[in-house]
Amino acid sequence: MRTLLTLTIFFSFSLSIMAQDITLPVPQRSGGKPLFDAINERQSIKDPANTPLDLQTLSDLLWAAYGFNREDRRVVPSPLNKQELSLYVVLKEGVYLYDAKTNKLLEKVKGDHRTVAGKQDYVFVAPVNFLYVVDKSKETGTGAYISCGCAAQDVYLVSASKGLACAVRTGIDKDAVSKLLKLDDQHEVIAGQTIGNKK
Ligand SMILES: Cc1cc2nc3c(=O)[nH]c(=O)nc-3n(C[C@H](O)[C@H](O)[C@H](O)COP(=O)(O)O)c2cc1C
Repeated sequence: MRTLLTLTIFFSFSLSIMAQDITLPVPQRSGGKPLFDAINERQSIKDPANTPLDLQTLSDLLWAAYGFNREDRRVVPSPLNKQELSLYVVLKEGVYLYDAKTNKLLEKVKGDHRTVAGKQDYVFVAPVNFLYVVDKSKETGTGAYISCGCAAQDVYLVSASKGLACAVRTGIDKDAVSKLLKLDDQHEVIAGQTIGNKK
């Protein structure tokens, strides 16, 4: 009886500390506003509402930022197809790594860490912050900045198409992010992007 009780407590505890990955809905890869309308409406909006984004919207934004649109090729270009970026997502519930192959968010840190995602107040209330991280063992030049700019622009255009508030940022405490995500010295955060519903 005591063994059974011990096992029950052990498994309950194990479950409670197991990662809570999020399976995303299949991203919508067509539709939206005409491209030129979205370009025309692209802008930085820095006062998002603190209401959550639905998972479909999040999945669409992630795919537009760094999903695959061909076998082993992403929606954004990279030098020699090195795919040197990783995309982390800071939600109220935790910090996740976007796994575009499985279309999942892999939990890396539990809890609300939005204050580490940037330095400005609007970052702390937004439901979604992206963090673009470069793997310097793959790319040491300016290539990662170009890949990141392409991803960020895609997110801006999807935001314009869906009527969301969005702003790209380099205002980030890189050391705090590295510590939170336990990044080694080959990985560096290069930009953030804040997305939310418009007020
Ligand atoms: C490389 C880069 C870094 C930026 N960093 C920040 C930032 O740290 N914080 C912020 O609020 N906006 C940041 N922005 C957004 C700019 O403030 C914004 O793009 C600019 O004011 C022009 O406005 P628009 O995007 O609406 O055209 C950044 C934009 C770029 C391209």
